[in-house]
Amino acid sequence: MKCDHSLFLFPFALYICHYMDKIKTILITGGAGFIGSHVVRLFVKKYPDYKIINLDKLTYAGNLENLSDVVNEPNYFFIKGDICDADLVNQLFELHQITHIIHTAAESHVDRSIANPMEFVTTNVIGTCTLLNAAKYFWQADFTNHLFYHISTDEVYGALGETGLFTEDTKYDPHSPYSASKASSDHFVRAYADTYGLPIVISNCSNNYGPYHFPEKLIPLCINNIINNKPLPIYGKGENVRDWLYVEDHANAIDSIFHGGKKGETYNIGGHNEWTNIDLVKLLCKLMDVKINRTVGQSEQLITYVTDRAGHDLRYAIDASKLQKELGWKPSLQFEEGLSKTIDWYLQNSAWLKNVTSGDYQHFYETLYANR
Ligand code: NAD
Ligand code: DAU
Repeated sequence: MKCDHSLFLFPFALYICHYMDKIKTILITGGAGFIGSHVVRLFVKKYPDYKIINLDKLTYAGNLENLSDVVNEPNYFFIKGDICDADLVNQLFELHQITHIIHTAAESHVDRSIANPMEFVTTNVIGTCTLLNAAKYFWQADFTNHLFYHISTDEVYGALGETGLFTEDTKYDPHSPYSASKASSDHFVRAYADTYGLPIVISNCSNNYGPYHFPEKLIPLCINNIINNKPLPIYGKGENVRDWLYVEDHANAIDSIFHGGKKGETYNIGGHNEWTNIDLVKLLCKLMDVKINRTVGQSEQLITYVTDRAGHDLRYAIDASKLQKELGWKPSLQFEEGLSKTIDWYLQNSAWLKNVTSGDYQHFYETLYANR
């Protein structure tokens, strides 16, 4: 009797394909930061078969306390280091046989970029190119089963007027050194795809909020100042609009895009949740008055209008319909619910808040707000 080996080999081949798809070694950069730590936590816990390597320089914004609940997981590894250090990045690729990158590391605060643009050029542009070079070099023999996922921001699109939404086709028009450096890094990522065929995907997200958010950004800064009865600095007239998304919803969107996004594509991620800064801070005051047993209206007295941010973008708002249509993602939390969870987290984690607001941060805060 003649034996057809392909009949026997077919299930084996299927098994190999399935297995290859499961073994991923993912380099997550900036995993000790705000968004990065939520992405690391999600991937480490949800995908025990993946090996997760977190490369973080631990700048003022990076904090290993953000990951205390995953530190002992067998599929999690931490490396302290700089994404601009080509020797280190190459060593990591070689040693760990990195198959995928989720690149979140960045200098991320607009006000700091106004004070010191060069750090933003270094980390956001040169750091990204250093990673791209390593990925190109180590993967170029066969780009299949690899992905360079670049995490970017809606700020690359510039500012909207009173109407309209940013789509994936909106022209880039960055205004701050931060957004210019992120726009530049997005262009490099696309250039590596177009020129060398590097498998990439980019997502541009709106403003995140939630646990582990560094208290230099509006929401955690105001929570911290309300707790400590300090002024709540509102830039200009407080009429600028941001589209807020709970950070775990962002991490879930990243998970969907990582696994289902089309290579070479861009996806916008947003909360369908626009707030002027002043309305948002008033809502925060109202929620906090109840939670910390103050008379309603008491915390609002702390609102203080200060000199506007230079080049302050009026409005950001994201059209995330491509992501919803293609991958079925949408935000899970209503804003009041997310804000309430966030406040509770800060109230329950006063030690975390105290640690990150001591030392260098005090100096930054006093210098930035002294002359406003
Ligand atoms: P973050 O400032 O909280 O964290 C940045 C992390 O990167 C820190 O852990 C820091 O130590 C690390 N890092 C900085 N420079 C590094 C370097 N040279 N080498 C290695 N690690 C370095 O930032 P975030 O708010 O979590 O933002 C993460 C990413 O998401 C950024 O790329 C940002 O542009 C993007 N993003 C942020 C938001 C937001 O609302 N926060 C929204 C959209 C997109
Ligand atoms: O849109 C996505 C971006 O959102 C991310 O790419 C950035 O990394 C992230 O920092 C954030 O940028 P913003 O500048 O929008 O966030 P920030 O929290 O600094 O400010 C939110 C709004 O509040 C903005 O209009 C400026 C204003 N603001 C901010 C601070 C810190 C104030 O009025 N007072 C303040 O003290």
